[in-house]
Amino acid sequence: MTKHTIKVCMGSSCFARGNMDNLQYLESYINENKLDAEIELVGALCSEKCSSGPNIFIDDVLYSEINEEKLKDILSKALV
Ligand code: FES
Repeated sequence: MTKHTIKVCMGSSCFARGNMDNLQYLESYINENKLDAEIELVGALCSEKCSSGPNIFIDDVLYSEINEEKLKDILSKALV
């Protein structure tokens, strides 16, 4: 499996609007599925796209308005 990088925007807007929870969800998802070797989880600075946040990037592809439901869906598709 190729290694994926998930960047979670830690800018104040995205963080306050849901990325705090999204980050926790990602951490438990990675732990439960034992994906620490395959997924690098990092924080990102504000990318000036706050209005469409909370934003995350998976392998540099931007995903906007992220919540837990969307995240489940995206992870199952993006990490194949
Ligand atoms: S805080 Fe995330 S894009 Fe600005």
